[in-house]
Amino acid sequence: MREFCIRWSKRFFICSAAVLFLFCAGCGSAANRGKSTVRIGVGLYRSDDTFINNLRRELEQYAKEYEQESGTKIVLDIQAAKGNQSVQNRQVDRFVSLDCDVLCVNPVDRMAVSSIIDKAMAADIPLVFFNRQPSTEDMNRWDRLCYVGVDAKETAVLQGQIVADHYREHPEQLDPNGDGVVSYVLLEGETSHQDSLIRTEWSVKTILDKGVPLERLTGGIGNWERSQASALMEQWLGQYGKKIELVLSNNDDMALGALDAMERAGITGICVVGIDATDPGLAAVREGKMIGTVSADKAGYAKTIFDTAVELSEKGSTAKEKYYWCRQEILTGVEN
Ligand code: BGC
Repeated sequence: MREFCIRWSKRFFICSAAVLFLFCAGCGSAANRGKSTVRIGVGLYRSDDTFINNLRRELEQYAKEYEQESGTKIVLDIQAAKGNQSVQNRQVDRFVSLDCDVLCVNPVDRMAVSSIIDKAMAADIPLVFFNRQPSTEDMNRWDRLCYVGVDAKETAVLQGQIVADHYREHPEQLDPNGDGVVSYVLLEGETSHQDSLIRTEWSVKTILDKGVPLERLTGGIGNWERSQASALMEQWLGQYGKKIELVLSNNDDMALGALDAMERAGITGICVVGIDATDPGLAAVREGKMIGTVSADKAGYAKTIFDTAVELSEKGSTAKEKYYWCRQEILTGVEN
């Protein structure tokens, strides 16, 4: 029988050790106390990213619940930028002209957010960035600026743990050719994304540190996308065939792309591990197609973005930390 196994990360709510950023009470000038409507401008980097769309759904759901419970009308104006920073900048101009009370932005280019910060500061509209982390320098420019995300190193260590645990329990599945080494291919997200760089480094390091012998066959940039990962995997299957024993993927969508290529090639028996616990990723774990995934608590993630935004808009300040790291957990399908 397959049982869905959930292990909470030891590091619940690990918030930035450095900054317990209590925002100054003096910035209440722009506060929105007692307003019966809160207008939130939400900027997404793209409209077709599975993880971001899962987050969007949670945000919309939570906004509805909040509206019903509080009696405050919530207007969520959600715009996606087609992966283009200039488009997103124009969307932010529009949010400002519509007199939004707060902005929640998932930047296209996390290193090019200074003009968004300029616009928000000039209009005195607080700003919550999420998922794509701006530089510390940018984040420190204003006290009405927060970031919500996941700790990328923690994600990677959890992914590494999934592989190490699986190797301990089923070495024959991770090393079917029995040569004593797990031969893997690596699917990486966007090069400019903090999560790709850190996930790749720490996932491999964790697996090695936990005593699993690893050999890298090849790797490539799938930019978080299922179709790009599928094309890469198709190529690698042609090159290495069943020599590939493990697909380490920076996210679930690319892991699913690898599975698509395996299905087309009629190849089974390669272990695949992802990150995100998106709906289709989770389904693949449940069906035993993936050995596991790392889940960010998406409901908590969306709630934190929303609560921080509303608090900033209503009170002009928040007692929350400047950085908030959502809790994560390992999800695996375990044979009993
Ligand atoms: C997620 C990816 C997603 C990316 C978007 C990452 O944290 O794991 O699935 O595509 O964020 O920025």
